[in-house]
Amino acid sequence: MMDSKLYQWHFVAENEASLGFGKYDMVQAEIGEKTICIARFKDQLFAFQSKCPHAGAKMVMGYIDAQGNAVCPLHRFKFSLKNGYNVTGEGYNMRTYPLELRPDGIYVGFRQ
Ligand code: FES
Repeated sequence: MMDSKLYQWHFVAENEASLGFGKYDMVQAEIGEKTICIARFKDQLFAFQSKCPHAGAKMVMGYIDAQGNAVCPLHRFKFSLKNGYNVTGEGYNMRTYPLELRPDGIYVGFRQ
């Protein structure tokens, strides 16, 4: 259980359907001034930074591989959806954000 006091929670969408996933199971969402990426993998949702930590490509243009990694569209570095770890070993970890499914919708937590 994470310490939720560390996070400021923001409403993202009423439900998964309203996120509008397409064929690649990734969408962008605007939360205030911030743009994040949300991915769906095996019925679970994950949130992470919208720009690749390597050279800033839009992660939403990439895809999710069979192991549950976000694959950058530009140089194909791969990042774990769970913790942002750069599993292909280039050393650029991706920032991830916790998501909470609450009765009134989906929330994302940003560190205070
Ligand atoms: S910009 Fe994403 S791997 Fe280079």
